[in-house]
Amino acid sequence: MKKVPIWFMRQAGRYLPEYRKIRLENNVFLDLCLNPSLAAEISLQPIERFDLDFIILFSDILVIPYALGQSVTFLKNHGPSLALEDLDNCLYNDDIDSSIKKISNIFKTIDILSKKKNDKKLIGFCGGPFTVLNYMIEGGTSKSHTKIKNFIKTEKSKTEKLMKNLVEISIEYLKKQIEMGADYIKIFESWASLLDGENYEKFIIKPNQKISEEIKSFSKKTKIIHFPRGSKDNYEKFVNEVQCDVISLDQDFPKQLIETARQRGITLQGNLNPQDLLEGGLKLHRKVEEILRKFENNEHIFNLSHGVLPGTPVKNVEKTIQIIREHEIT
Ligand code: CP3
Repeated sequence: MKKVPIWFMRQAGRYLPEYRKIRLENNVFLDLCLNPSLAAEISLQPIERFDLDFIILFSDILVIPYALGQSVTFLKNHGPSLALEDLDNCLYNDDIDSSIKKISNIFKTIDILSKKKNDKKLIGFCGGPFTVLNYMIEGGTSKSHTKIKNFIKTEKSKTEKLMKNLVEISIEYLKKQIEMGADYIKIFESWASLLDGENYEKFIIKPNQKISEEIKSFSKKTKIIHFPRGSKDNYEKFVNEVQCDVISLDQDFPKQLIETARQRGITLQGNLNPQDLLEGGLKLHRKVEEILRKFENNEHIFNLSHGVLPGTPVKNVEKTIQIIREHEIT
């Protein structure tokens, strides 16, 4: 009898009291990401509580701008803040090795986790280059994304150079994570939704293609999870052109993708709405079963369509896991 494996995007985080406790004692979020014993402890919190099938490294996609020379801070209830005046540091950075050294504590976290993982799979990750660039140029979270849209239009050579640096450092960063014991790596291209047509090809397909190729030639056995969030009709193009073992789905993907993935041997990951998880009740029950049925003829990893929301009751997570564990695949 086969079971559907489970993990949750942002499974370590503020909805967990044991995370909030550590966070309260550690004011600087990046310091927490760069503290191997605490980061390993936080990564394991959701595993100890829920016995999930995957451990994801506790870190953030914004360690990369920090490594490249941009100051990154996380203000309470305000999301990340990145210093625009530091962009030139990243632009003219030609020493990727020293940049990686600034965040090498993360590899120690992976080392600790790989020794404690037992039968669990360990996921390392980075942001997709365009998504990271978006935060670097916007200086934080944005609703309109006017700065990034304007930047790629008017600052073509700077865009090209920054993207080149981001692709290069992401590849080195992921290779080191693999060397230290990551079984899977996930690339969070959370703002793929901003692009279409030629720009989607240039800033989403090409960079992710390059990362996948390099990772596969470095390590065949490492599984790659891609998350080009909000790609809509471009999801098909993405899986046809970018090597992926697993495609992580948001709410709005073309139904045809289920068939394409089955034919191509690509595992589908997803796609419970985090709002449904937060609200719970009968609707949650119905949604979880719907998802299990929707993907029952595919290789499927149960997950959310985006990260766990901070106010999510722990009991809703427990209930969701119980429904999935009791579900039998025939
Ligand atoms: O999933 C996990 O448990 C592993 C840890 C993880 C975090 N961030 C921890 C975190 C992962 C995989 C990420 C990825 C990440 N970070 C993404 C891609 C996924 C997505 O959500 O689209 C992005 C875009 C970021 C950037 C980021 N980090 C933002 C926009 C914010 C602020 C908003 C928020 O949710 O708080 C963060 C902060 C952050 N990263 C927190 C955590 C636990 C909360 C920080 C805190 O404790 O104050």
